[in-house]
Amino acid sequence: MFSSGLKNLLKTCIHTLWKLVQLLLFVIIVPPLINYASLKREAPLLGQHGLPYDIGFGQKLFLRCRGKGAPTVIFDAPTGMTSDIWLPLQENLQRTTTVCIYDRAGLGMSDPPLGSTIQQKSDVKENEPTKYRGMDFTVEKMSEDLNRLMTATSQQPKPFILVGADLGAIVARFYTQMYEFDVSHLFLIDPLVENLFDNEHWKDHWYNKIIPRLHAMQLSAAMGVNRILVLTRMINTQLSTTASNNIDDTNININHRQKHLLCNAAHISSAIREHFYMNETFSQMKLAWRMKAFSSNASVTIVNRRQYDKDLSKNLNQAWDESQEFLRTQLFRNRIQHRLIDSTDKYFFFNKPDLLESIIKDSINQWREQKGLA
Ligand SMILES: *[C@@H]1O[C@H](CO)[C@@H](O)[C@H](O)[C@H]1NC(C)=O
Ligand SMILES: *[C@@H]1O[C@H](CO)[C@@H](O)[C@H](O)[C@H]1NC(C)=O
Repeated sequence: MFSSGLKNLLKTCIHTLWKLVQLLLFVIIVPPLINYASLKREAPLLGQHGLPYDIGFGQKLFLRCRGKGAPTVIFDAPTGMTSDIWLPLQENLQRTTTVCIYDRAGLGMSDPPLGSTIQQKSDVKENEPTKYRGMDFTVEKMSEDLNRLMTATSQQPKPFILVGADLGAIVARFYTQMYEFDVSHLFLIDPLVENLFDNEHWKDHWYNKIIPRLHAMQLSAAMGVNRILVLTRMINTQLSTTASNNIDDTNININHRQKHLLCNAAHISSAIREHFYMNETFSQMKLAWRMKAFSSNASVTIVNRRQYDKDLSKNLNQAWDESQEFLRTQLFRNRIQHRLIDSTDKYFFFNKPDLLESIIKDSINQWREQKGLA
């Protein structure tokens, strides 16, 4: 009697334990698998609004150019972000001139850098580019990639008007240092400035707040947690279209793509690297600026919002303003146009493309008038 009771108890225990193990396995294994399968299924559908271009050794970058004629306006996105952020502006400007948007290596629809191993391969054909300069995920490499993409591979009409926000602004400046004959105008929108980490608060914020947050995001993406959160609408994507910036084209589904990227650990990993190597990027920019005078033919417009970010501390906002002042007065010695935008929205150029459209059009017309093309 006693022993059969114990047996039953044991049986129930084992049964419960087995159920628990099954549940645990289910929770640990199934979401990542579902996420992986979904990413695979979604990927081919998401890049249909542009084209992959081989920039050497089979590494393909995503590029979307629309419109006709010179100059070519090229947009470069903030740190860790993709060309989606420029789609509304591209849509508005493509009736005026050629307008290109692209994804930097590893982000969005673009392949990650191939790594240094490729350079040692002996079977490289002679007419292929033999060597990449620059470290992956730093500005030197980014501007070289951009040069290959726009000139060698896809051959867009020159000159270029470069429009960069945040890290994109550093890429635009570095590009102009390296290839000054290509560029007629720069728009730097809330640009990162290479002296920003001279401020300890910012360096600390960047490496001890922003990057750990991205690491957590990457982990939960890999575990399939982000997909569940996205499906249940418990987290939102950084960008989502509204009535004022919606693009009427079934191939361009910004919202789907943004959800996909939020669940894509490989994309987030590249975003982390762009952040992580920012100190290298800054030191490359400092060096480039010391070595060579800025092209006298490229004119510059710096665009700032009146307040950088109300969610950041006063210290950080103040240091940000000082870096902007340094860029305007010390680096460019005031030989720039300065525009202030009345918006508290960090991504105003996505949510309200009209705010930038007319000032970019002005510079297109100015170039055409100078060439007698207007
Ligand atoms: C600057 O513009 C002049 C006149 O258009 C041109 O001859 C010269 O090559 C340009 N220089 C650079 C650095 O682009
Ligand atoms: C950037 O930071 C890394 C890690 O802290 C460090 O190893 C590297 O030397 C730094 N590079 C520069 C240019 O400061």
